[in-house]
Amino acid sequence: MSASAKVVPHHIAIVMDGNGRWAARRFMPRLVGHKQGVESLRRCARACQQRGVRVLTVFAFSSENWNRPQDEVSGLMELMGVALAREVPDLHKEGVRIHFVGERASLSEKVRAGLAQAEALTAGNTSLVLNVCFNYGGRWDVAQAAAALAARGEAITEASLDRALALAHVPDPDLVIRTGGEMRISNFLLWQAAYSEFYFSDKLWPEFDAAALDQAIAAYAQRERRFGQTSAQIQGQAAP
Ligand code: FPP
Repeated sequence: MSASAKVVPHHIAIVMDGNGRWAARRFMPRLVGHKQGVESLRRCARACQQRGVRVLTVFAFSSENWNRPQDEVSGLMELMGVALAREVPDLHKEGVRIHFVGERASLSEKVRAGLAQAEALTAGNTSLVLNVCFNYGGRWDVAQAAAALAARGEAITEASLDRALALAHVPDPDLVIRTGGEMRISNFLLWQAAYSEFYFSDKLWPEFDAAALDQAIAAYAQRERRFGQTSAQIQGQAAP
């Protein structure tokens, strides 16, 4: 393993917060901020790929976002359709495999079909896994996993729950980034972030560029991940 491979997180997860404020500061509708957020996501996915990150998971629409004003909710649904049509062909060319993570039954048939198409098109790609959490909540995920196990009559253990969760296809995130200056988890990856490193940025999501990503990765590289062990134990393991 090269020196840089040790410090680049395998899996980065991001709460992309601050689109609304970015737009409000420019006296523009919140949806303009979300559109800019899609640009920022494209830029960030590319930067992750270039730096050797293998999995990027983003929080695009939470189970609780349905409670936003009706026009913002329908605008976000529409934006998803537009973003799929515009971004997926390029992401596919770049070798990105897209997964949508979240509850689909309450989405429109059109959106559901778009998600399934994007997943099918990119299923063979291997350069970066992009998980887009859409109508997702960490509590929903744990509950649906437990319900699936119960329905199959399987015992509920840490290992079986882990396998039934919506992100079972990737390892847990090494680094969770939240932009927009708030310091909370907001029902994102409650199970999977148990031992993740957290990084909070004051930048609003549309402003989060490659340099900001590099700062987050540099901060991550300084952390000592102990997974419940002591520092001395970890240092001992690291010794030649
Ligand atoms: C949080 O900012 C952001 C969201 C709720 C949506 C994030 C969506 C994107 C970046 C676009 C990609 C998503 C789709 C649907 C294609 P906020 O609105 O809470 O900002 P604020 O805290 O400044 O109000």
